[in-house]
Amino acid sequence: MTTSRRITLASRPTGQVQTTDFGSDEVEVPPLQDGEFLLAVEYLSIDPTIRGWMSYDTYLPKIVKGDVIRSAGAGEVVESRNDRFPVGSRVFGMPGWQTHAVQTGGVAIPDGVTYEQALSVFGITGLTAYVGLEDIGKPKPGETVVVSGAAGGVGSIAGQIAKIMGARVIGIAGSPEKCRWVVEELGFDDCIDYRAEDVGAGLSRTCPDGIDVYFDNVGGETLNQVLSRINDHARIALCGAISQYDSGTPAPGPANLINAIPRRALLKGFIILDHMDRAAEASQAMGKWMAEGRLQVRTRARGSGFRPECAEGSVQRRQHRQDAGAGVASVGRGESRSLRVGRAVDARAPRRCPRCPRWGAVGRANREATTPHCPRRASRPASARAARRTRL
Ligand SMILES: NC(=O)c1ccc[n+]([C@@H]2O[C@H](COP(=O)([O-])OP(=O)(O)OC[C@H]3O[C@@H](n4cnc5c(N)ncnc54)[C@H](OP(=O)(O)O)[C@@H]3O)[C@@H](O)[C@H]2O)c1
Repeated sequence: MTTSRRITLASRPTGQVQTTDFGSDEVEVPPLQDGEFLLAVEYLSIDPTIRGWMSYDTYLPKIVKGDVIRSAGAGEVVESRNDRFPVGSRVFGMPGWQTHAVQTGGVAIPDGVTYEQALSVFGITGLTAYVGLEDIGKPKPGETVVVSGAAGGVGSIAGQIAKIMGARVIGIAGSPEKCRWVVEELGFDDCIDYRAEDVGAGLSRTCPDGIDVYFDNVGGETLNQVLSRINDHARIALCGAISQYDSGTPAPGPANLINAIPRRALLKGFIILDHMDRAAEASQAMGKWMAEGRLQVRTRARGSGFRPECAEGSVQRRQHRQDAGAGVASVGRGESRSLRVGRAVDARAPRRCPRCPRWGAVGRANREATTPHCPRRASRPASARAARRTRL
């Protein structure tokens, strides 16, 4: 009988997530029914949207207390009563934060595509960047595109696609290292470190001719500052509002929204689940751009103990902006399992952390990282954490 280790929702967080918001258990996997297959999860995607699912209804109902934490993930089929997903095939789907998941569907991962790529550039992250630009932003050559969350999974790909479309691209990110990465390695034209420079001043400096397209991942004051600098017929793709996800109360609307009227601007929100029919088209484009060397996707393995303490750390790492790129955690067997910089959780064959053995297992990637990854370290003063933080 196979058992599955699970991370569950123990309580609904208000503000930042805490270890106590997560539970863990081990359950027996029931015998498979016709049409089902058993996925041994290798990687989990640690997405900002999980923070919302834990607390409130969004485009999906909130996670039921006691249920496994909902998330995308990928792994290998180890038992099957489904002809489409035979034993040995690799599948991307929504297994949640558990080591083994009974599934009825998913997307077969083609040969040559790694788990990390399946969860990032060829998954929701890449598709989100693609649809936001192709359908809403529609940058023309020479136009100015601003991307917030520029060093994150979606933002780093969105900015590169905008460059491929011929635009001038300005990123907004939260550290000098991230800004250097998006400019020097990804080819953005400039980047505003919003922690070191007032974002309004940075936009005036880098966008002297105004902003034609804004790919918004953060909402809040950054959106407000962009709105006061948009050109006529500007397009704003409202992708995310990560600056507000921990907020217990709704933020006031942007004071500069009124400028959208004289500028005849378009502001359009979108949810990628409505656009899954574009996945093949997006993957084909991404694959071509990668083969041509025009699109880079940064991945880094981050193993994580499959325990509530580490679940808290995984979500907070995204919220606290300690990683660049897309977020993936390796759940398992992983030596050098990598996650898109951003999120995936490793669930199998965990190791003991040499720095905090009391808190148990972490993967090798964590052993090598300087980011705090357990409550004991995370409870240190913010200044001490900052000193140890690896931002990229
Ligand atoms: N609409 C959809 O269907 C859809 C689909 C996928 C994702 N999304 C949204 O897209 C956004 C990006 O997702 P992702 O997968 O790229 O996430 P990600 O890889 O975790 O990156 C998010 C970035 O946001 C920045 N950030 C975090 N807190 C912030 C704050 N308070 N203020 C400003 N920036 C902050 C961080 O970078 P810095 O250190 O640079 O601040 C981080 O790198 C999220 O808002 C997510 O919810 C939407």
